Amino acid sequence: MKIVLLGPPGAGKGTQAAMLVKRFGIPQISTGDMLRLAVSEKSPMGIKAKEYMDAGDLVPDEVVIGIVRERLQADDCAAGFILDGFPRTLQQADALKQVLADLDKQLDAVVSLQVEVEALVARLTGRRSCVECGKGFHLQYDPPAADGSCTECGGKLIQRDDDCEATIRNRMQVYQQQTAPLEDYYSKQGLLTVVDGMADISTVQSEIVAALSGS
Ligand code: AP5
Ligand code: ZN
Repeated sequence: MKIVLLGPPGAGKGTQAAMLVKRFGIPQISTGDMLRLAVSEKSPMGIKAKEYMDAGDLVPDEVVIGIVRERLQADDCAAGFILDGFPRTLQQADALKQVLADLDKQLDAVVSLQVEVEALVARLTGRRSCVECGKGFHLQYDPPAADGSCTECGGKLIQRDDDCEATIRNRMQVYQQQTAPLEDYYSKQGLLTVVDGMADISTVQSEIVAALSGS
């Protein structure tokens, strides 16, 4: 199964992708996670990407397209993948189509998660993730252990640098301007399914799985 998860910052793409990984045994390809790893390793790409990410702007298309092209060629993507946070521009969407065509593949479905703006802000300001295993939490909606640590590995939880309110608002604007047009793009190709992302995490998962079973 070859899936794209679309949705604004905080819509639940990463949360839902991690659950789909367990269910279908296919990898999650998160460009945000790949870029954050490059930033933490201080690689040349990471140093370049950091200024865009800190401001909540998109990293240039050619950088992101390059890392996705390479990742999709890996053996573990043969049976399928879940793209989380890519594509984010029409240029990225066209590039994805070409990369997949070169691999003799095509997308099966694009799921767009719809969530109201103020709910997105609440989700992002309360988000934390485990420094050891990367598992995501929300202080209220998906709480960590009683002592504030990770429920999987006991690791310490941290907050993302771009989860402050001013940067969140810019990320949302960028989404509206540059990424929202992809809904129309994929709708015209008959690939788009819209899912209400306002429900609780497990209900959203069930709706995504139901939508995928029809694709
Ligand atoms: P990226 O890491 O992709 O961030 P994003 O798109 O802003 O998305 P988020 O990770 O913030 O949200 P999410 O939808 O995954 O929500 P989550 O599941 O965590 O990108 C970061 C930056 O990298 C970009 O700004 C850009 O600079 C760069 N970048 C990345 N990809 C790029 C690309 N393709 N091109 C160019 N630049 C790129 O959930 C959020 C919180 O809500 C969590 O705490 C979770 O527990 C909680 N939650 C989830 N679902 C629910 C629910 N149903 N009810 C209640 N709470 C919920
Ligand atoms: Zn952990």
